[in-house]
Amino acid sequence: MRLAVPLRASMLAATLLLPLAACQKPAPQTVAPPTASEVPAMPAHDVNSYAEPEHVVVKHLALDLTVDFERKVLEGAATLDLDWKDAASRQLVLDTRDLAIAKVEGGDGATWQELKYALAPRDAILGSKLAIELPAQLPKVRISYSSSPQASGLQWLTPAMTLGKKTPFMFSQSEAIHARSWVPLQDTPGVRFTYEAHITTPKNVMAVMSADNDPKAPRDGDYSFTMPQAIPSYLMAIAAGDLVFRPINERAGVWAEPAMADKAAKEFEDTGKMIDTAEQLYGPYRWGRYDILVLPPSFPFGGMENPRLTFATPTVIVGDKSLVSLIAHELAHSWSGNLVTNSSWKDIWLNEGFTTYVQDRIVESLYGVEASDMEKVIARHGLAEEMKDIKPDDQLLALAPLTGRDPDEALTSVAYIKGQWFLTFLEDRYGRAVFDPFLRKWFDDHAFTSTDSAEFERFLDAELVAKNPGKATAAELHAWLHEPGIPAFASAASSKRFDAVDEARGHWLAGHAAATDLDTAKWTTQEWVHFIEGMPETLSVAQIQSLNDAFHFTGSANGEIAQRWYPLTIRSGDLSARPAIAAFLARIGRRKLIMPTYGELAKTPDGLAFARAVFAKARPGLHPITIVSVEAALADKPPAKP
Ligand code: BES
Ligand code: ZN
Repeated sequence: MRLAVPLRASMLAATLLLPLAACQKPAPQTVAPPTASEVPAMPAHDVNSYAEPEHVVVKHLALDLTVDFERKVLEGAATLDLDWKDAASRQLVLDTRDLAIAKVEGGDGATWQELKYALAPRDAILGSKLAIELPAQLPKVRISYSSSPQASGLQWLTPAMTLGKKTPFMFSQSEAIHARSWVPLQDTPGVRFTYEAHITTPKNVMAVMSADNDPKAPRDGDYSFTMPQAIPSYLMAIAAGDLVFRPINERAGVWAEPAMADKAAKEFEDTGKMIDTAEQLYGPYRWGRYDILVLPPSFPFGGMENPRLTFATPTVIVGDKSLVSLIAHELAHSWSGNLVTNSSWKDIWLNEGFTTYVQDRIVESLYGVEASDMEKVIARHGLAEEMKDIKPDDQLLALAPLTGRDPDEALTSVAYIKGQWFLTFLEDRYGRAVFDPFLRKWFDDHAFTSTDSAEFERFLDAELVAKNPGKATAAELHAWLHEPGIPAFASAASSKRFDAVDEARGHWLAGHAAATDLDTAKWTTQEWVHFIEGMPETLSVAQIQSLNDAFHFTGSANGEIAQRWYPLTIRSGDLSARPAIAAFLARIGRRKLIMPTYGELAKTPDGLAFARAVFAKARPGLHPITIVSVEAALADKPPAKP
């Protein structure tokens, strides 16, 4: 996700909530009535994949892989079960990136014949097209291959880079189009398949996948998994290391390195209640167990909704559960995303916007409306800042196809926060009594399928607008989905608890109160975040120091605070935080947390030199995805604005 640029003092909470673009294109007066023939039976070709699902579709994948920590490769075979769609087709086209292909065979599972194939030169975004020629429409193809140590979707950690320091660690991150760097497959969210896997590791290493992990599995280096629900490729996931399990309740638990396991299980103890809440709103959790894998701090994201096994950053474990909305988010994907999936990345708001909406409903139900309000204000503040750098075409929910673009780079807070805001708008207009069952029906009717914005519009018109006339106009819906900015008629979020924070900050800035006199005893992460975000663009060095003496922001173990505090110290010309900044940037790989600080440092020659020195040291411990982002931020020429 592109990152919010550092926040400006002028962006007071109230102004954030004003419409971001008044640009009102002429809108049709009615949404065209849908016809059954408009609902695509087969999703349109995905421009971010070479696969040709109109000819043949992978239905099942069997992986047999060895995790080789010495060579930093996964090696073995992938067997694909094929469902031929086009009688004339004799070719299977797969996505790969940096895979070494040893052999390709076709057969029925009992007998195999070697097949001819062509591996195309590497495209910088899409990787290498693998075209396999078949003599007939064989039911199975088996590819023997190994991944590269530089695989974009894998990170390999030496024992020194782990908590325990004794065992190596590896993990995958397949979304958006990185699965192809460790498995040859149809790497498009428009294709779903079941999978099984046999994974071999060194004997002292535990392996887990986005599948039926057995909390009691003996640690012997030989692991078997099945994933009986059909999933898209970006939900393929694997991790291996010194992992132990701690139950949260009978269907939820935590996997983590031993030194982190108890802390994580405590922080995430509400997970069972989160599942219950989501089920009450949107129907049964359809995936069996829900476990959380706590990764090393180099994990490039906050969380990843790998089915049955959410991958999570340890940076949300801050001791007071104040950042567990991340778990609500990843859990929510069990409905929005994993069950009902965007069929290509242009419609990612169907995954992330719906999920952010469901996340907020879980947060409100468990932690109250004040917690939900604070998160909404912070999120919309971030969106307003980020939107300034997003070109109008990328401010739409229903985007144009991402032809020639890396879907990771095209992803912004628009999908998340504008998407959530749109659903909140519908909730306000129609009321929860109508809107909650509507959303549940969306999930039920589209369960285990991939879909797009056009289908959502059709469903919205048929199931909500037509059945409840007079609540929302076609022009309003058009503005949300197809126009840039936030519609002028969108209603603002506000937070009572933040009003108190604004008052405290105001007193201190006016010199009416010392920092130590402010009534901050009951503040949670969100209040501290808002306190810092509302500061003027720069403070005097004396002011920075008085805040730091009172609140010890520098060196904070809370990354949400650190990611906002360090840029403020840099802008204010205070160099005393530099050692702590160096330690922060060396330890953490979560892009959202570190990019604002790198971005601020890159603005002055001295800051840039410092950032480059820090990055040179941190680089060997960083994930390939994070390295790409930091390199772009520290490049001689900053990346062109969209
Ligand atoms: N699915 C996303 C992460 C993602 C999106 C990875 C697109 C690659 C491409 C995940 O659910 C997510 O949104 N994570 C957020 C969590 C937050 C919004 C609570 C993150 O990592 O910050
Ligand atoms: Zn998400």
